[in-house]
Amino acid sequence: MTASEVLSELAPAAALSPDLPAWDRELSGKLLMAPMAGVSDAAYRLMARSGGAALAYSEMVSCAGLHYGEKSWELVDPDPAEPEIAVQLFGSKPELFRESAERVAARLGDRLALLDINMACPVPKVTRKGEGSALLEDPGLAAGIVRACREGAPGVPVTVKIRRGRYMGQEVAPEFARAMEAAGAAAVAVHGRFATQMYHGEADWGAVARVVDAVDIPVIASGDVLSHDAARRALSETGAAAVMVARGTYGNPWVFSGHVPTPVEKIAAFECHVRLLEATGAHLKRARSLAGWYFKGMPDAARWRNAAMSCVTAEEFLAVAAEVRAALGS
Ligand SMILES: Cc1cc2nc3c(=O)[nH]c(=O)nc-3n(C[C@H](O)[C@H](O)[C@H](O)COP(=O)(O)O)c2cc1C
Repeated sequence: MTASEVLSELAPAAALSPDLPAWDRELSGKLLMAPMAGVSDAAYRLMARSGGAALAYSEMVSCAGLHYGEKSWELVDPDPAEPEIAVQLFGSKPELFRESAERVAARLGDRLALLDINMACPVPKVTRKGEGSALLEDPGLAAGIVRACREGAPGVPVTVKIRRGRYMGQEVAPEFARAMEAAGAAAVAVHGRFATQMYHGEADWGAVARVVDAVDIPVIASGDVLSHDAARRALSETGAAAVMVARGTYGNPWVFSGHVPTPVEKIAAFECHVRLLEATGAHLKRARSLAGWYFKGMPDAARWRNAAMSCVTAEEFLAVAAEVRAALGS
């Protein structure tokens, strides 16, 4: 089955839409599926879109990886069922960004909604090379990267994703965002934590609001948008044009629409997601963490999660889903 066929057949039973509307290039009021390394593959993005996300991002993709090998291109290529995607790049060398932007734009054509530059990743393996949130300390280089991407992919909106700052207490986001705007960034996403906080502590939406005040380009709020209500609150409290949902999508593609799923709809969504992994050629092991997320809160959830941990094939995961369904008496 193709991913489109999977959606037509299985999405409605999960209260998800099989029809994915085209991105209208307008950020205002939109809820977006955030980039998540190791998570936001084509199947995950399709689930988010069918749940109502206006746009979904790729995982962060290394410019050096795209330059030197073939493997990273797997992260860039959308499934044929995806109308378009946002591609996020990371690196530190403007020349490599220019080349990646050019090649990604040529490869995806109209299906590339925007190119985003990761200036937020806190992982030492990344920052040690001057990539991700390390760029927050070098606005000159970061601006050069934005310009290089614009040159490489003329006509494609180039956006940046930043944090409040790199080090605890040292907020650079408003000033840094102004520099990115001056370099031609089309929008800026702000995760309201310092990089050194990783994912700990609370995200400060006030930091997002300060960036909104500092720039004229649209701002996308990120951080602790863990429910549909939180998304609505983030929009109104920060004044941001749009919000990004990351961890709030775990087992919850309805976070975008605000639909409250029944347990049976959650199982149907897990089944749809497993079939999408299969249809998009992803590694089925990804369904192990998905099972934990979709079955959370159900009676005997720990048992079903454990059962999924030893599954390998789609049929094995679907057999666990059938058991959960039977245990619910439906
Ligand atoms: C597993 C995981 C992977 C992530 N990978 C990326 C990434 O590749 N690029 C990026 O810009 N942010 C990444 N993030 C950060 C999220 O996009 C988001 O900004 C952050 O999680 C805060 O939002 P939340 O509180 O809604 O989860 C990742 C977050 C998680 C939890």
